[in-house]
Amino acid sequence: GLPQQVTIYEVGPRDGLQNESSVIPVEVKAAFIDRLADAGHKVIEATSFVHPKWVPQLADARELLTRLHRRPGVRYPVLVPNLRGLDRALELDVAEIAIFASATETFAAKNLNRSLESQFEMFEPVVARALDNGVKVRAYVSMCFGDPWEGPTPIPQVVAVGERLLGLGCYQLSLGDTIGVGTPGHVTALIRAFRTPERLAVHFHDTYGQALGNTLAALKAGVTTVDASTGGIGGCPYAESATGNLATEDLVWMLRGLGIETGLDLGKLVSTSTWLAELLGRPSPSRVVQALSKG
Ligand code: HMG
Ligand code: MG
Repeated sequence: GLPQQVTIYEVGPRDGLQNESSVIPVEVKAAFIDRLADAGHKVIEATSFVHPKWVPQLADARELLTRLHRRPGVRYPVLVPNLRGLDRALELDVAEIAIFASATETFAAKNLNRSLESQFEMFEPVVARALDNGVKVRAYVSMCFGDPWEGPTPIPQVVAVGERLLGLGCYQLSLGDTIGVGTPGHVTALIRAFRTPERLAVHFHDTYGQALGNTLAALKAGVTTVDASTGGIGGCPYAESATGNLATEDLVWMLRGLGIETGLDLGKLVSTSTWLAELLGRPSPSRVVQALSKG
C-alpha cells in the first residue's frame, strides 16, 4: 500500500544552488528559503559547511544562516562533512546536520578526498560530537544505483555503507541516485535489502526522467520521506553527469493525485520556481512548473 502522509525534505537551496555557475547573492538565497517556508515546507536543507574552495557557491553559509529568519516549526539542516564543518555549524546554533558518504570508491575520492573505508574515520567523530551537542544527524549515501566511473553499484555495497552510517546513530539514511540512473525495479530491490525501510529516505536526480517512477516504487516499499528541489534545480559539482533533483512540484502533483497529504501550497511553489528561474536566467526543467505557469 501507499503511505497516508509523506514528508518532503526540500534540498533546493543546498543541492540546487551548490551547482549554479553564477554567483547568487546571499539575500536572494535567504529570500528563496523564506519563500519555501511560506509555501509550507517544514524541512529545508539550507546550505553546506564544506570546504569553501570545494564548493564556492556555498561559501557564504555563515552569512546566510546569520541573515536567515529561522521560523519555529521549520527545520533547517545543513551539510557537514567533517569536524571543521561541524564547528562552523555549531557556532551558528544549527540543530540538525547531514553527513554525506559515498557508496563507491571513485566518488569517495572525488567528492571527499577519502577512500571508501577512510570516509568513516571522518564521519564517526562528527556524528559523535553532534549527538553530544543534541544535534540530529541525517546521512546520505551517494551513487546508490550507479556511478559514472564504476558502472552499476552492487546492492550489498550500498547496504554495507548505509547500515554502518545508521549504526553511528544517524536518524535517517537518504539513498542518493546522484546521476539519476536508477529505475523502479532497482529501487524496490535496494529498499528491500535494508532491515529498516522506515529509516530510509530517497533522493532522486532526474537525469533519465525516472525520478517520479522511482519515488512511487519507494513509497510502495515503505519509504515516507522524499527529497526534492523546488523547480528541479540541482546536481553535484563532483559528478558531471548529474542533473537536477526531482522537482518538488512534480512530486506534489503526483502525491495530490494519490490523495497523500504534504501540507504544501503548489501555487506558491510554482511562483517561487518561476521567480528563481528568472534570476538564474533559464526556465525550470519541471513539467508541472511549465504547465502551471503558462498564461
Ligand atoms: P580535504 O582537502 O581532504 O580536507 O577535503 P582536509 O581535512 O585535508 O583539510 C584541508 C584544509 O581545509 C584544512 O585547512 C582544513 O581546516 C580546511 P589548513 O589546516 O590546511 O589551513 N577544511 C575546511 N575549511 C572549512 N570548512 C570545512 C573544512 N574542511 C577542511 N568543512 C573535504 C575534505 C571533505 C573537506 C572536501 O573534500 C569537501 O569539502 N568536499 C565537499 C564536496 C561537496 O560538497 N560535494 C557536494 C555535496 S554531496 C552531494 O551533492 C550529493 C548529495 O546531494 C546526495 C546525492 O545526490 O547522491 C548529498
Ligand atoms: Mg543530490
